[in-house]
Amino acid sequence: MSSSKDGLYEKLHKYSDGDVYPFHMPGHKRNMPPIKSAYDYDITEIDGFDNLHHARGILRESMDMAAGFYGTKKTYYLVNGSTCGLLSAISAVVEYGDKIIIARNCHKAVYNAVYMNNLKATYVYPKPVDNTSILGGIHPKDVERAIEENPDAKAVVITSPTYEGVVSYVQAIAKVVHEKGIPLIVDEAHGAHFSMSGYFPKSALECGADIVIQSVHKTLPSLTQTALLHICSDMIDVAKVERYLSIYQSSSPSYVLMASIDNCVRDIMNNGPLGFIEYESNLKEFREKMSKLTQLKLVDKKILGKAGCYDLDMGKLVIQIESITYTGQDLYNELLSKYHIQLEMAARDYVIAMTSLNDTKDGFDRLYEALANIDRYIRIKEGYGQVEGLMHIKPLGEVAASILEKPAVTCMDIREAINSQTEEIEFSASSGRIAAEYVYLYPPGVPVIVPGQMIEKVVIDYLLDCKAKGLQVQGQADDELINIVVIKEKWKEFSYGKNILPDGEKLIGEGYHV
Ligand SMILES: Cc1ncc(COP(=O)(O)O)c(C=O)c1O
Repeated sequence: MSSSKDGLYEKLHKYSDGDVYPFHMPGHKRNMPPIKSAYDYDITEIDGFDNLHHARGILRESMDMAAGFYGTKKTYYLVNGSTCGLLSAISAVVEYGDKIIIARNCHKAVYNAVYMNNLKATYVYPKPVDNTSILGGIHPKDVERAIEENPDAKAVVITSPTYEGVVSYVQAIAKVVHEKGIPLIVDEAHGAHFSMSGYFPKSALECGADIVIQSVHKTLPSLTQTALLHICSDMIDVAKVERYLSIYQSSSPSYVLMASIDNCVRDIMNNGPLGFIEYESNLKEFREKMSKLTQLKLVDKKILGKAGCYDLDMGKLVIQIESITYTGQDLYNELLSKYHIQLEMAARDYVIAMTSLNDTKDGFDRLYEALANIDRYIRIKEGYGQVEGLMHIKPLGEVAASILEKPAVTCMDIREAINSQTEEIEFSASSGRIAAEYVYLYPPGVPVIVPGQMIEKVVIDYLLDCKAKGLQVQGQADDELINIVVIKEKWKEFSYGKNILPDGEKLIGEGYHV
């Protein structure tokens, strides 16, 4: 089949020559000193270049250098993202069929680890942050309660920071987890830059976590897919982690990617503080100017102390929209089409711009000018301070955040649900049925529906609304989300669901909420 259209390479080539500014990952922001073609550096495990899965030479030295810099027991370079780090870390601390406590807002990689290891997942739920549409942190008390209720749990996994930059009180969580003698895994995929400057929150590396996983590609100058897995305590069986890393990582790890991690760590070790001074100053100036806008508001440190928010990554620009008609997707689209600014993601009522030390002052200024224009437009169109308008907004944001906050009815384990007899039914009519597939909002890839979970009307309404507003709803077999795959039997006695009654009747199940 021949095509006159550009191939991917030509398309990327043209794009890189264009003027679209990247407020998204990867953190190098396509703003790096020129190098030879990637092909010139692309080798395999030839003499003198070591082997990632059996590192004894230059890769061992480089990973030991990183461990020394981060102050860890062991640090591993990952070429399959934090995804393979999470899969390996979780697999290394459980046995097949064990129980695990995970934050409900974990990334799908954590859910996939639950599936692969047939784990019984018990959830701890972040709460929505008042006056925003985002979720807060994980409260240490909730972790303590979950451990008391599940004394046979083998590990705890949380995400800190969240995609929106919210950091949990990891030190206190680590304390309660360790009192029970089990390890804490922290998905710090969005916090690889934390250790680099006092302007950012303390890394989980310094707060007692046993394994920490960081995507260097997200917030530092490193190529996509590059990440780090850090082992920080003696509680972890190093050989087991290594065994799983060799299962979940390619047997042909890219030297271009590994060199990119080495270069990133080396560069920050040698020049880090200097690079971060300018970055911080750009962020402070940007945040100061944004504080004058009326309809577009940055989430800031006012949220600290609420809903488990212990700290906030000031490098994450979460822009909340106070408007009756203008959505996150509208803002995302307008910034791209009119101002040639590409954001990281759009949610219903907010957008996220990701920043890094490779952003330029010019980039921040362009973003501010564009947002100031749009802010003025919304204000003129809708009238500043129309209480009636804002009254319409708040419930929307609260509904969005509360979807993940409320304990859903878990009827079956994830693996049991996926492997059950299933059928496809109309999504809008699936209330009360048990899901057999995931439904994510992407990004960030946190599942709104998990296999084995009872589908509730509020979740259906929310997802259909997100879809109507142009957000990416993914994971399910039917891209259009007209149908959903559910468990075939309607009211069987499932492993968790002995107390489930037909739709409409009141349920008194584990974790059920009214
Ligand atoms: C919180 C979180 N954890 C893990 C991941 C997976 O990271 P990676 O893309 O490096 O595999 C992501 C990706 O977006 C994420 O947002």
